[in-house]
Amino acid sequence: MSDVILDAADGSTIPVQAMTEAETGPALESIPAGAKAFAAISDFKGKAGQLLLVPGADGALAHVLFGLGAGGDPMAFRTLAGKLPAGTYRIARVPNGMSIDQIALAFALGSYRFDRYKAHGGERARLVAEGADAGEVRQVAHACALARDMVNTPANDMGPLQIETIAREIAELHGATIAVVAGDALLEANYPAVHAVGRAADPARSPRMIEIAWEGAGKDRPLVCLVGKGVVFDTGGLDIKPSAGMRQMKKDMGGAAHALALGRMIMAAKLPVRLAVLTPVVENAISGDAMRPGDVLASRKGLSIEVGNTDAEGRLILADALTRAGELEPALTIDLATLTGAARVALGPQLPPYYTDDEELAGQIEAAARAASDPVWRMPLWKPYAEALDSDVAEIKNDPDPWAQAGSVTAALFLQRFAPAGPWAHFDIFAWNPRSRPGHPAGAEAQAIRGLYRMIRDRFA
Ligand code: BES
Ligand code: MN
Ligand code: ZN
Repeated sequence: MSDVILDAADGSTIPVQAMTEAETGPALESIPAGAKAFAAISDFKGKAGQLLLVPGADGALAHVLFGLGAGGDPMAFRTLAGKLPAGTYRIARVPNGMSIDQIALAFALGSYRFDRYKAHGGERARLVAEGADAGEVRQVAHACALARDMVNTPANDMGPLQIETIAREIAELHGATIAVVAGDALLEANYPAVHAVGRAADPARSPRMIEIAWEGAGKDRPLVCLVGKGVVFDTGGLDIKPSAGMRQMKKDMGGAAHALALGRMIMAAKLPVRLAVLTPVVENAISGDAMRPGDVLASRKGLSIEVGNTDAEGRLILADALTRAGELEPALTIDLATLTGAARVALGPQLPPYYTDDEELAGQIEAAARAASDPVWRMPLWKPYAEALDSDVAEIKNDPDPWAQAGSVTAALFLQRFAPAGPWAHFDIFAWNPRSRPGHPAGAEAQAIRGLYRMIRDRFA
């Protein structure tokens, strides 16, 4: 990804006057008379997303006016990046209550495009973010772009080996160690559920457990454990998905991509924690060796799991990964997973639900998500529904009885049986924009991790 956020200008910059509707009157008084007159005949009112390109005497772009509507949300600047022609800009007018850092980050997120398979990527608008911590903005933006690139990349080019390679690069870049257990060695190392889900894949795409450990900020720091669902493609297994549902399943490694991206942010900023990133990576494929409906699996925790539906595979691999997390005795565990279709039915594509029984943690997540303009919504670990996971033949089953209905809740309750004893939160992310909006192209989206980065920074400050 090319850097669109610059520390300083290497030539002239085009000023952007950003203003809310309410600020538009006084703001237009402060710009040159010609530009002001042009704004008047163009009916520029500062409405949300309204963009006016004002030419100078020579016809070149001289001023940009950008409307923020009622204002308040710095993420509105994603739209600006999505609409501006190529060039180098600066924010000449920072609206009340917004920081240049938030604006620059929004601009970087809004300029993201996935052009890996297109011959012409095209020039991008760049922003000189004077007064911003451009280094940090770039790190966070890069991590989000990495997650989006991983999710957008189809499964033929984003298999288990590619995810392992990316994890190795991240670890090496930040002086972390990495351990990978792959294929039949998963049985030896006691990851039976990860093995069972991934064993049907082609040997070149064998299942693996990837574990990054980082102590770059000191060995005595509290441990933060990040866990991410890495299903490189989810056919549904023998309980095969209908074609419409399978179509998007290259994104089913979104949790792993998000965990790696968040881990990268934490290491790049050297937050005062120790870090472990655990990503079980599998392809939920179909072959003679595939797990079957009715199979009973062993798990790392020792609980037997009946596979009622091979399409509820994410919770199986996360069961082993969360058990592993608990062995590390973390001060905080966060898992991220494209776990259920039901999460989207409940809250739609833009608002990922999260689950925790820790009130203090919930408050911190809430506050940080709000401050980062990275929306999430708490849903309950509603204990009475746990009965829907009772199995006739094993200690738990992976497909809840239909009477409980709330599929995202019962999936979270399944994970809770395997989660570490201490503070834990689970995010059932969608990781996807189903349609394009300015600054939010259709395809992969990074969700929850900017807020989580901020929460972890504040919690362990
Ligand atoms: N990866 C899917 C969940 C999913 C589907 C996420 C669509 C985003 C969009 C997951 O593995 C799955 O198939 N879950 C099933 C669980 C069911 C079989 C108990 C689901 O949600 O239908
Ligand atoms: Mn599935
Ligand atoms: Zn899945």
